[in-house]
Amino acid sequence: MSGRPGAPRHVAIIMDGNGRWAKRRGLPRVAGHRKGVEAAQVIVRAAGDLGIEVLTLYAFSSENWRRPATEIADLMDLLRRFIRRELGQLAEAGIRIKVIGDYHAFESDVVALIDDAIARTADNRRATLAVALNYGSQSELAAVARDLAREAKDGTLDPESIDESTVAARLSTTELPPLDLLIRTSGEKRLSNFLLWQAAYAELHFTDTLWPDFDADELAAAIAEFGRRERRFGGL
Ligand code: IPE
Ligand code: IPE
Ligand code: MG
Repeated sequence: MSGRPGAPRHVAIIMDGNGRWAKRRGLPRVAGHRKGVEAAQVIVRAAGDLGIEVLTLYAFSSENWRRPATEIADLMDLLRRFIRRELGQLAEAGIRIKVIGDYHAFESDVVALIDDAIARTADNRRATLAVALNYGSQSELAAVARDLAREAKDGTLDPESIDESTVAARLSTTELPPLDLLIRTSGEKRLSNFLLWQAAYAELHFTDTLWPDFDADELAAAIAEFGRRERRFGGL
């Protein structure tokens, strides 16, 4: 892994706007999701070219279960196809695949595909693609609280010793570098339950571009803008 000076080590993207992209063209929402997967493939490669160590993509939130069953089924089909089509290339490119979120709630064949993707790329070190699947930041934090409470009750953890690092060590992102840059497409300016803890000092980048139209040039521009930001972390 080789970060470039001034470049973000860890970039996360809330890939939003697939439905609106399709609607503007009079197409069904699934057409937008299909284009969105193509955009994700392009951006994964571009992130590697830009020297980003970790790219975290928000693909399915724990709130996305509120969508119609047909749309969820379409998304699962696209996930299946993405893994089948991309895994070989990602593995060869030295990319480690990591999943954050409770993907075990997905159908068993999808779980098996994901487990295989994780296992086959576990030793890769060039870069990490973290995919958020059935991810919700609040439930992630609640799970940490539950674990800490259990350990305190068992007497294996002194409650007074709990600090930020104790919590961070139990998050699904624990072994990843700190989140530097969080991008959201489609003009929405909210976090939608994504990486609430991890985004504490991330730079935020909002673009009106709908996810299917987000390309390598726009990622490069966001990275360049990141390089011009002054990060103070509370200091002067
Ligand atoms: C993002 O696009 C993809 C997922 C949430 C899975 P949307 O489906 O949210 O697209 P819009 O927001 O309806 O345009
Ligand atoms: C956030 O987008 C989740 C993903 C991109 C996977 P949503 O479209 O689900 O978010 P809201 O509903 O607009 O907040
Ligand atoms: Mg959306």
